[in-house]
Amino acid sequence: MEKLLIEGGIPLRGTVRISGAKNSAVALIPATILAETPVTIGGIPNISDVGVLGDLLEEIGGVVTFNGQDMTVDPSKMIDMPLPNGKVKKLRASYYLMGAMLGRFKKAVIGLPGGCHLGPRPIDQHIKGFEALGAQVTNEQGAIYLRADELRGARIYLDVVSVGATINIMLAAVRAKGRTIIENAAKEPEIIDVATLLTSMGARIKGAGTDVIRIDGVDSLKGCYHSIIPDRIEAGTFMILAAAAGERIVIDNVIPQHLESVTAKLREMGVQIETLDDQMIVTGGNDLKTVDIKTLVYPGFATDLQQPFTSLLTKANGTGVVTDTIYGARFKHIDELRRMNANIKVEGRTAIVNGPVALQGAKVKASDLRAGAALVIAGLMAHGITEVTGLEHIDRGYEDLENKLRGLGARIWREKLTEQEIEQVQNS
Ligand code: EPU
Repeated sequence: MEKLLIEGGIPLRGTVRISGAKNSAVALIPATILAETPVTIGGIPNISDVGVLGDLLEEIGGVVTFNGQDMTVDPSKMIDMPLPNGKVKKLRASYYLMGAMLGRFKKAVIGLPGGCHLGPRPIDQHIKGFEALGAQVTNEQGAIYLRADELRGARIYLDVVSVGATINIMLAAVRAKGRTIIENAAKEPEIIDVATLLTSMGARIKGAGTDVIRIDGVDSLKGCYHSIIPDRIEAGTFMILAAAAGERIVIDNVIPQHLESVTAKLREMGVQIETLDDQMIVTGGNDLKTVDIKTLVYPGFATDLQQPFTSLLTKANGTGVVTDTIYGARFKHIDELRRMNANIKVEGRTAIVNGPVALQGAKVKASDLRAGAALVIAGLMAHGITEVTGLEHIDRGYEDLENKLRGLGARIWREKLTEQEIEQVQNS
């Protein structure tokens, strides 16, 4: 076990290159199961969630090669092996194995997924979709069993706008017989990315990125090359970090349109942002106005940026109200920020942030991925040294975070935890 040490208060400057999108990668990799010949995906981030998914594809007979950048999956010898336990429980996105294996083999057994603890995260809409396509779905001892004699296209209205359900139904439907229509679909860029890969594989999909997606099933899909989109959440994290602790940071390899809501909020605070074709230049400041944020489905303010943004608000003038309408319990970072002297109150789905305060370095623990990003940003802003544990969460989703930060001038490094510290972390 390791901890991250951050010496705060050093103004950051330079250029940082954004990696491929984690939330695309974790869907694109399972999508390769649907092809009959090898698929290569360029720009895959080297993060632990990707490693686990690669291992899972190997468990079912795939041949996976990953050079830290491009991943090639040969799915030709894959079998419908049940995956009720083990690595499948390590990440939430293993639920995409359900849609992909159902699509290819007409059956799948997948242990109920793990991932970040953000309060209840049901998958009822995924199951509703699979059932509408003709699958029988049962939950036995913590694993979902799916079986269909034949998958038939259907009209599916999602009661909740869900990224995961939209993608999972798309995966199952591309090889179903006839037309599937997903209504009230999620519109996130990652959904378009998965649809682009599937289309290159030979699928017939229209409307990805809108709230109605039409899929005409095909008998088989073939291999192809696909280049992943940049990670808008990593980019947003660096934009917030630049506003919080940066002088002038160039964020390279971004699609600025994917970042409009966070850009608008930062500008409202008084942060200077220059937008180029595939770069954003963010100049941090010390006299920032506070703002209220409310997380919404895309293109609204992303819930994944709510936690990092809370850290930034601690240095803004006034009282900012942060409401998470997607995950009402995504506030585990707040207690840790309070240890660092933040003045924040949580009431239901809302955090009330009073600023400005001078954050102080402290020992804090990341309880989930974006809480980890929030604490790293707070550590970069704080006086003194901050020690962050729970790094397994950060490593799930941010590629090479310390090196990228060191490239901007940050003093940040890892150390092994002593046995006594391990005990303290486990008991906290
Ligand atoms: N929901 C249901 N039923 C379902 C599915 C979702 O009620 O069947 C609810 C959820 O509880 C939540 C809302 O619908 O309140 C939205 O959930 P969604 O299904 O869109 O979330 P997800 O697909 O499980 C993805 C990202 C999350 C991100 C959310 C929201 C992946 C692997 N995960 O999760 O990313 O927060 O969309 O945008 O794509 C992260 O990157 O840190 C992360 C947690």
